[in-house]
Amino acid sequence: MSIKKAHIIGINGSPHKNGLVAKLLMEVLEAARENGAETQLVHLYDLSIIHEQGLYSEDPEKEVPANMPEDGITKIYPDLIRADGLVLATPVYWANMSGVMKDFIDHLTALENDNFKLEGKVAAFIAASKENEGGMEMAAISMVAALTQMGVLIPPWGIMWAPGGSITAKEGHPKWANEDASHVGKTMVRLINLFKKNKVSWY
Ligand SMILES: Cc1cc2nc3c(=O)[nH]c(=O)nc-3n(C[C@H](O)[C@H](O)[C@H](O)COP(=O)(O)O)c2cc1C
Repeated sequence: MSIKKAHIIGINGSPHKNGLVAKLLMEVLEAARENGAETQLVHLYDLSIIHEQGLYSEDPEKEVPANMPEDGITKIYPDLIRADGLVLATPVYWANMSGVMKDFIDHLTALENDNFKLEGKVAAFIAASKENEGGMEMAAISMVAALTQMGVLIPPWGIMWAPGGSITAKEGHPKWANEDASHVGKTMVRLINLFKKNKVSWY
């Protein structure tokens, strides 16, 4: 019996569609396609976003998709639910993720809080800066801290923080970052296919 193609969504948290972050993200997605996945790319800066309304803080039962004010991120909830894998990619903004990436993660609260809709999905993380002014690890790990509580699985090499290739930012990523990116695309698909064949209940 053939298994359905792995579906992986890349989330670009940079305003630049062809910048350092987007390039690394696209390399992960390309490797995933080469390994048989279907991919989708979302540029958060293209979406209109309403900031998190804090329904959870009023009453945890309120924070579910049906109660969220409709915006560009709630519109892609069905895609996020259907996806087998997510790649969150952010530039380093003041030693952390970009504001839109934080908005995106806050919006995932409604999915997590609605019976762990993200549980068992495979997720990888990219934080990059061409200027190397500090904070790459913090940006990457901040995304991981939230998503791991939502029940995602991280594949080998799946947390990437990548400095640019030079201080003048002309050369792009160093070779190892590009190699890591293609490994991550492959390991994501392998892990997803493994779990498609062997259904696991995590909770
Ligand atoms: C508001 C802002 C804050 C930034 N803060 C940091 C920082 O703390 N550390 C760092 O290394 N780079 C920082 N940068 C540089 C970006 O991370 C860097 O230019 C990155 O390569 C941009 O990625 P992109 O070209 O894909 O958008 C900052 C840039 C901006 C616009």
